[in-house]
Amino acid sequence: MTDTIGLPQPPALGASALPAGTYDGTVVLVTGGGTGLGKAIASEFARLGADLVVASRKPEHLAAAEEALGALGGRVLTVGCDIRDAEQVAAAFDAATEAFGLPSVLINNAAANFPSPAEDLSPNAWRTVVDITLTGTYLCARELARRHLAAGTPASIVNVGASYAWTGGPGFAHSAAAKAGVKNLTETLAVEWGPYGIQVNGLVPGLVPHEDMTADIRENLDRNEGKARSQPAYRIGHPRELGWAATFLASPYGRFISGHTLVVDGANWQRRHLTNPEVTPRARPARPRPLRALRHRRP
Ligand code: HXC
Ligand code: NAP
Repeated sequence: MTDTIGLPQPPALGASALPAGTYDGTVVLVTGGGTGLGKAIASEFARLGADLVVASRKPEHLAAAEEALGALGGRVLTVGCDIRDAEQVAAAFDAATEAFGLPSVLINNAAANFPSPAEDLSPNAWRTVVDITLTGTYLCARELARRHLAAGTPASIVNVGASYAWTGGPGFAHSAAAKAGVKNLTETLAVEWGPYGIQVNGLVPGLVPHEDMTADIRENLDRNEGKARSQPAYRIGHPRELGWAATFLASPYGRFISGHTLVVDGANWQRRHLTNPEVTPRARPARPRPLRALRHRRP
């Protein structure tokens, strides 16, 4: 019998499938580009010559973006911005345009998430995740599109999603619902704006751990020992693999791809069958429920 080997490792950091200078003279705005996958995606654009604008809330994340992207030799602008606020989003585009010119690539990478049983979420907790992940994505896309529609110039948007947009995400009801919205929005906007030269795609990372993961997301992942062997690829993803996919989607070589969501997860989300491992519900606090009351609710 053949040994299992999993999917091969990718080329080393710094390699690129696209020609050097593919993004020379192109302004790329990445939300949440100071941490994790956003930083990795921004770095691949920087390596290919882009001028980078990174927008997010926290000064320490913006400083990290400046350091990482500056080290790659390109021009970098960082802008404090909460993507839930349309005025702050407009101000970020103003600052970008003043510094480098109107961004023609937008990577909607910023998102919010924390694990929580659905019934425990407060209305504000729900709203916070949906506002950042879905509304923030929409507001940034709208700002870019309005400016390009007015100028009559083409642009490309990549919305970062998650595979529980298709499957549902037990323990992450807010984020999964918001990501389903992002996937759906990608499809609508691609059709609405295609005639005006604006390409809109989605990009879904699989399991791609990184050093900036929030503590509760990391803790959630750490519970799954042997992470690599839980994947059909027999390995986890590397942040640069998302960067390569994003730079391809927004490049001249991906111009006829629009309304598509590209999943970079080694086929992990298709791994479903009728005999999944046993379901282990989390321990619930005792809530006395009289049997009779339950019976009443049944038809
Ligand atoms: C339950 C929580 C909570 C938690 C916050 N809340 N954290 N509820 N469990 N762990 C509730 C708060 O009590 C509050 O509700 C509401 O959410 C808003 O909280 P704030 O702290 O005021 O919000 P804010 O400062 O805006 O911060 C947003 C945040 C924070 C989402 C809570 O974690 C953040 O800034 N995250 C950004 C980075 C991030 O989330 N990255 C993950 C992306 S990874 P009340 O009712 O008390 O007012 C990803 C991976 C997908 O998406 C796939 C992974 C499996
Ligand atoms: P991360 O490091 O936690 O990044 C989230 C980024 O979003 C941070 O840089 C944060 O910056 C920014 N952000 C959050 N709220 C914001 C707001 N209101 N306004 C502006 N920026 C905001 O997470 P990640 O793992 O790199 O995830 C990046 C993307 O990939 C997300 O869309 C996520 O859902 C998706 N994803 C990741 C994985 C994975 O395995 N890593 C899997 C599936 C999907 P500030 O705090 O400075 O605002």
